Amino acid sequence: MKVAVVGLGYVGIPVAAVLASKRVRVVGVDIDLRKIDAISAGRSPLEGREPGLDELVAKGVASGHFTATSDYGAADGSDAIVVSVETPVDDQTHDPEYKALKSALRSLAPHIARGALVSIESTLAPGTMAGIVRPILERGSGLKAGRDFHLVHCPERVTAGKLLHNLTTLDRVVGVADDRGRRKAFALYSKIVDGALHATDWTSAEITKTAENAYRDVQIAFANEVALICEDLGANAFRVRELVNTCPGREMLTPGAGVGGHCIPKDPWLLVSPVLHQKPVLIPAAREINDYMPVRMAQLVEEAMRETGRRIRGSRVAVLGFSYRENTDDARNSPAIALIRELRKRGADVTIHDPFAKGQRGFSVLREVRAAVKGTDCIALVTAHDAYRKLDLAKLRRWMRHRAIVDGRNLFDGAIAKRGFVYRAIGKGEF
Ligand SMILES: NC(=O)c1ccc[n+]([C@@H]2O[C@H](COP(=O)([O-])OP(=O)(O)OC[C@H]3O[C@@H](n4cnc5c(N)ncnc54)[C@H](O)[C@@H]3O)[C@@H](O)[C@H]2O)c1
Repeated sequence: MKVAVVGLGYVGIPVAAVLASKRVRVVGVDIDLRKIDAISAGRSPLEGREPGLDELVAKGVASGHFTATSDYGAADGSDAIVVSVETPVDDQTHDPEYKALKSALRSLAPHIARGALVSIESTLAPGTMAGIVRPILERGSGLKAGRDFHLVHCPERVTAGKLLHNLTTLDRVVGVADDRGRRKAFALYSKIVDGALHATDWTSAEITKTAENAYRDVQIAFANEVALICEDLGANAFRVRELVNTCPGREMLTPGAGVGGHCIPKDPWLLVSPVLHQKPVLIPAAREINDYMPVRMAQLVEEAMRETGRRIRGSRVAVLGFSYRENTDDARNSPAIALIRELRKRGADVTIHDPFAKGQRGFSVLREVRAAVKGTDCIALVTAHDAYRKLDLAKLRRWMRHRAIVDGRNLFDGAIAKRGFVYRAIGKGEF
């Protein structure tokens, strides 16, 4: 069996590596030559902790089952093509931004073999399979979906840090439009997934995936709203949460410095984007609350600075954590970025530390905590990396100019105040 995987990112690489480990001939196609070079050298280009992935990529490449290229011609004759390119939303309008998807579909269409399966794993706004994907593939291939090739939507459920685990163990929803497509998709995905496969139609699969993430976003927003109430009323949201969860059926999540990643901040917008006849209220409101949390962090830094007798303008702040998720390198839509922008707007001088994430233009990231913290007035903790759980307070006291910590992930408690630090935290009106 030969499978082409178009888009070698957090989704495409593990899919390709798992298939290669099942002795499937996998051709990965990407436009990013650095990724192709890394994979061709047997290395996964993803950093951060991804248990088992580096080994699987290395083995797949060494055995010759996994190759990577920028040439779509290499997809010729594939029994199945998996599409896993990014599908972001516009920063301002929140409308779907399908530049990568359309370009990938146009490039791959002439290479679809008669009888092949094409599975779109990228997350899509409802209606995209029928309105965008099918027409581009049919036009570019001269083939008809459902008759000459088989088109399914099998959205991914991976999460950075648990890519292989989620990919291989979780159930999958498969949106199908014809029975042969369903059978071919089940044959392919039963090589990858131990969980159950649930067949449905394209639109229900599109809604299911985006609703899963919108649901999560709304739940986090609820926890964040309770956190803001607790701060205002002098209570501790983490204690309140434990008490709420003693009531059956309540599973309140933990509040924090904000929501990031490629998916959760944008999938709710994908879900509501095609809705014409109802005005969605709850889902956009949840987005607003979660987007406010980095601003709240900046306000807490300002308060902490005031308590040390300083103004935020001219203060030096070390932001600890640039990736959005603990122990990974994934900084897409990270709340750290929004916080740093807020701090700079207020006149603070910001240094950034992360053990895994790379910097980007305007955001240079240091690898050593000491280098980031030395001479600063305040630490703003954004990401719950394991390394930050073991921070040596005595050393921080020596390195810092003033001692304040703003805790966005409940890594410390009020005891830190007894060690000479001004302490402020999301969700803690009292410690
Ligand atoms: N990252 C996750 O945890 C996750 C989870 C579930 C679903 N998803 C969804 O899966 C999709 C992919 O996400 P990701 O995180 O892997 O993205 P990513 O940015 O890590 O990877 C996308 C890859 O596609 C490549 N690409 C872009 N245009 C291309 C083209 N025209 N031809 C070939 N390759 C092209 C990019 O160079 C990149 O390597 C998105 O729709 C996302 O919403 C992601």
